[in-house]
Amino acid sequence: MHNPIEIPFYVPWITRDDRKATVNALKSRWLTGGPQAKKFEELFADYVGAKHAVAVNSCTAALHLSMRALKIRSGDEIIVPDLTFAATANAPLFCGAKPVFADIDEKTFNISPNDVLERITPRTKAIIPVHYGGQPCNMKEILEIAEDHKLFVVEDCAHSLGSTYDGQQMGTFGIMGCFSFYPTKIITTLEGGMVTTDDEKICKRLRLLREHGMNRTALERESSTTWFYDVVDLGYNYRLPEALAALGIAQLKRINEGIKRRIRAASYYTKQLSKYAEVITPYTAGNRSHIFHLYTIRIQKNPRGATRNHVFKRLLDSGIQSSVHYTPLHLMSFYKQFLDQKSHNFPVAEKIYDEILSLPLYPTLLKSAMEKVTTEIRNALN
Ligand SMILES: Cc1ncc(COP(=O)(O)O)c(C=O)c1O
Repeated sequence: MHNPIEIPFYVPWITRDDRKATVNALKSRWLTGGPQAKKFEELFADYVGAKHAVAVNSCTAALHLSMRALKIRSGDEIIVPDLTFAATANAPLFCGAKPVFADIDEKTFNISPNDVLERITPRTKAIIPVHYGGQPCNMKEILEIAEDHKLFVVEDCAHSLGSTYDGQQMGTFGIMGCFSFYPTKIITTLEGGMVTTDDEKICKRLRLLREHGMNRTALERESSTTWFYDVVDLGYNYRLPEALAALGIAQLKRINEGIKRRIRAASYYTKQLSKYAEVITPYTAGNRSHIFHLYTIRIQKNPRGATRNHVFKRLLDSGIQSSVHYTPLHLMSFYKQFLDQKSHNFPVAEKIYDEILSLPLYPTLLKSAMEKVTTEIRNALN
């Protein structure tokens, strides 16, 4: 057992307005598949700058639907970063396709375009770049590769709602963008997700697959004179309930304030931690904005023998939770079966895996808590 947690890794930011909006939605006749989800979709599309947004009940569902919308199937290969959450790689697997892991860039921890090129085969159908921690990938190079090899790009924007590349929001570069509203994310609906797209046909297909493959939803049938619907494809129940959509609308209203606070907290950490030679603070490329879903540092072994694991332990002993994002997928038991000889090679992901540590960061984090975190890191390094 460790000491009681004094500074958790994450604390959700739920206000009175959020609670009011959620409870009000519970008073409605529509509890799911209704007007709140529709309104949330419209506001979300507007915020991101996409033509369409389709609300779903997780980013995992969003990624799955994106693969189904592209008709990904057995025999296809989808390139994903080695350093990501399991759901990115699971989406192709849900459709019988194979995830192919690509190594990452040492500075940004994002998928390496050069390594993507190495992994392309005649079976490759798509790339799913993940904007790790809230910093956009090198979209120029990824889109060029995709165009040259006729591949789809589906952005995994689970971390990156509100971040920009050349001034344009993430989720508008690929054929689709998939977002998460899990409690630690930039906004939360408890569980929830969204797919953005500019493609009308894809949008229609996403909506169909979200609701059991039915060609007319309950909401559509209500304003019609017939009870009839047909099932025209294999679909799912991936709807976002109304109370959660209402919470999403309330959260979206103050997204910019949340991001501002995250960036302010990140600058404080960077200022304090840049003093230590063995700590590498997050790097942000010039044409990108980093919205710090994660604040991930690297801790290189120092002459006194202190390592990332020492720092993790010291923080925990002081009541501070930190975390590691992520164990590279190729090192996890389940994913080993998808590796071949060539794809065993992930030097950068393996190198940084021993060094990365994500520090507590959320909109309500106090300066005094950050002071304690940085003081304990200093103590651990000494
Ligand atoms: C990169 C990435 N993709 C996908 C997901 C899945 O999101 P959800 O929990 O909303 O299904 C996560 C969740 O943490 C994630 O970090």
